[in-house]
Amino acid sequence: MKKLAVVGAQWGDEGKGKVVNYFSRDFEWIVRFSGGANAGHTIYVGDKKYVNHLLPSINPVIDSKGFLGAGMVIDVGQLIEELKILEREFPGISSRFYLDPEAFIVLPWHKEEDLLLERMRKVPIGTTGRGIGPAYTDKASREGLKLFVLFDEVLLRERLETIYHMKRSKYNRDFAVSIEEMLVYLQGLRAELERLSVNFTSAVDMYRVFRSTSVLFEGAQGVLLDLDFGTYPFVTSGACMAHGVSSVGFSTFELDSVYGVLKAYTTRVGAGPFPTEELSEVGGLLRERGKEFGATTGRERRIGWLDLPALRYAKIRSGLTGFVITKGDVLNGLDEVKVCVAYDVDGVVKELPSTSYDFFRAKPIYETVSGWPVTDHINFLKYMTFIERETGVEIDYISYGPKTEEMKTRNDLIMNI
Ligand code: IMP
Repeated sequence: MKKLAVVGAQWGDEGKGKVVNYFSRDFEWIVRFSGGANAGHTIYVGDKKYVNHLLPSINPVIDSKGFLGAGMVIDVGQLIEELKILEREFPGISSRFYLDPEAFIVLPWHKEEDLLLERMRKVPIGTTGRGIGPAYTDKASREGLKLFVLFDEVLLRERLETIYHMKRSKYNRDFAVSIEEMLVYLQGLRAELERLSVNFTSAVDMYRVFRSTSVLFEGAQGVLLDLDFGTYPFVTSGACMAHGVSSVGFSTFELDSVYGVLKAYTTRVGAGPFPTEELSEVGGLLRERGKEFGATTGRERRIGWLDLPALRYAKIRSGLTGFVITKGDVLNGLDEVKVCVAYDVDGVVKELPSTSYDFFRAKPIYETVSGWPVTDHINFLKYMTFIERETGVEIDYISYGPKTEEMKTRNDLIMNI
């Protein structure tokens, strides 16, 4: 049975939610394996738009199910909000979501810490403020809470006491709420999840189910924001690459395909290197046309031309086997389109960055190609072929609008020209 991973090939916001939603009709399970409510995955059901931050992008009108894996950090309050929004239109949909009890909880103080740390940084990262960094930090320093503690009051109290004690000693700082209040709050969240009939099942218990059915793994953010190999420290704190499926008990060898979603140009939210950033009028035009404002924070996205060295790097880091290109239509009508084909890194021409440090020193080397009036046009096909030749990865699908159905295969595009 088919196993597909869909990851962002740039700095996130490539349109993964829509792409996953399109493919979801052919998959029984949609699995999120990392990140948290920092993601903003926009899906359309008919004309209605939903922005999910935590929920896997299942197609509500067919019978697929969603799994939130152990690699995630879950803001349970936010999760409940998202479920309630969907419940209004699709009663009972919550019972189609499964949580791995091994996943970590984003606690209220993680969000406070996130904002506090940003204020302390000389160069802020520009985080989403969703508590992601502090939650993963607590996970690594063994001061986090896994979801399963919600089901054991004695353990929950014990863990909270330990955490309160450690944080007080380390930071000489008190908590705004008492342990008792925190207990009541967390138990309330659990009760609400139970009321909604959300399932708690580990990836171990899902081992056979997942092997005997089709699974689509929905990545969060993009390869260049990956904690290990993105443009550190201007990254998120989770895994953004396909290898993150290991937290759901999968090896990447079990994947039939790894699709990298790439935007026909490049965007980035927050600080950090962005070699092809375009601060000119064209950048502003593309921001307006492409509605390039963050789905989670509403912030303006930074805009730049397509960056082939970054895509080559993403291909190697995440083992991409195919591309899905989005938003080619945003470039419609430009006479010329610039593409970065290589970097000048301290005087050395590099087609492929060796390390994430290269992104900080890169000066883009551009080629200019002819624009296209519409994406069903020979020049857009040439643009795609150029990307394919330069990266060694084929573009299998083209998304040409925000709606789920606005997607075609490479062959459809050729037939329409
Ligand atoms: P954090 O994940 O909130 O800690 O933010 C770290 C960096 O990742 C910031 O530059 C964010 O703007 C960026 N980021 C986090 N999530 C997303 C996303 O879903 N799309 C694009 N950028 C993101």
